[in-house]
Amino acid sequence: MANTLGIIKPDAVRRRLVGRIIQRIEQEGLILRGMKVQRLSPEQARRFYAVHENKPFYKSLVDFMTSGPVVLMVIGGHRSIERWRDLMGATDPAKAKYNTIRREFGTSIERNVVHGSDSPETARFEVGFFFRDDEILPKE
Ligand code: CMP
Repeated sequence: MANTLGIIKPDAVRRRLVGRIIQRIEQEGLILRGMKVQRLSPEQARRFYAVHENKPFYKSLVDFMTSGPVVLMVIGGHRSIERWRDLMGATDPAKAKYNTIRREFGTSIERNVVHGSDSPETARFEVGFFFRDDEILPKE
């Protein structure tokens, strides 16, 4: 019953897709345990994506992720990490399955609308990166 981190990225916030994305999360039966709207600083974006710092897309990714507000979410429920990843679809929207959020709304491999943690270790790091314990609802 681990929590995972979800981010609704600046492209989606700008395009007013927040409500539709949260609707998909609720329809899937996942549980919102924490949420905030924030504009990431370059320092935060660089540290959050530090695993990608040697990739060619790193600088552009940091610029994109700081280009406007994001919605940060702590998502819980049974198998939340896998289920949120399944709901998002593959990183590249063109390769994502039909009915996934990225397939429906994503416009490029960078502007792929949402982020999700990819493992229990990553989820722990990523949730803790943005949320204090007292900002997360306890499991019922
Ligand atoms: P995300 O799941 O947030 O993790 C890293 C992000 O880098 C990814 O989604 C995309 O927004 C962005 N990105 C840009 N180019 C690539 C690429 N070639 N491969 C993977 N991620 C990329």
